[in-house]
Amino acid sequence: MKIIVTKDNIEGGTKAFEIIKNGMSNGAKVLGLATGSSPISLYSDMCNSDLDFSEMTSINLDEYYGISPENPQSYHYFMQKHLFDQKPFKKSYIPNGLAKNIDEEVENYNQIIQENPIDIQILGIGHNGHIAFNEPGTPFGSLTHKVTLAESTIKANSRFFNNEKEVPRQAICMGIRSIMQGKKIVLLAYGASKQDALKALVEGPVIEKVPASILQDHPDVTIICDQIAAKKINPKYFTI
Ligand code: F6R
Repeated sequence: MKIIVTKDNIEGGTKAFEIIKNGMSNGAKVLGLATGSSPISLYSDMCNSDLDFSEMTSINLDEYYGISPENPQSYHYFMQKHLFDQKPFKKSYIPNGLAKNIDEEVENYNQIIQENPIDIQILGIGHNGHIAFNEPGTPFGSLTHKVTLAESTIKANSRFFNNEKEVPRQAICMGIRSIMQGKKIVLLAYGASKQDALKALVEGPVIEKVPASILQDHPDVTIICDQIAAKKINPKYFTI
């Protein structure tokens, strides 16, 4: 596991962008993408670059259940706004938050992931150690599934809504096993609220109580975090 500590999220975005750029020049064709605040500086670098994504495929980690793609709080809307409007991909997959038949949607999404093996997977991390919406206790062997969000996640995400009540309670989410199948994983984490989760990810035991801890078992993970987020990690683990 590589740990790159940066001054801030802007420098972090630049480092992540370099990984994507190198990956693409080495043949990467499928990007696994995340939403939330952590990847925004990366997406901004991608938008401002001269890279062409029109032959690339993207697969997003998750979508709230029960809101439409036009809803400004949906992850569809987020991706359009921060990346796809400026840099369209050949094909972009995001779970359908309005799917009537959830089992069918879940099955369909697993099929998409199998048919498009992810070359580079971008991740954020929740305060509670979640990756995507795989909350503490999610089996490491999970595939795409419908999840009930943890109270701490609802609280954390309420900053994007008018109030906490508006935050959807459920989501469709790529499972931990599928995330681990990504060939290269880049996890972004910024700010003091990520200190405990990052320490547990890097130094703690690999346990389902800390979903991100499974990344210790992946052969190619790069963590990009700012100095504040990295504060509790023993510096002996730092790469740069
Ligand atoms: C988003 C996602 C979540 C976020 C995590 C961190 O697609 O799957 O796991 O990455 O909640 O969110 P931010 O970056 O907003 O702190």
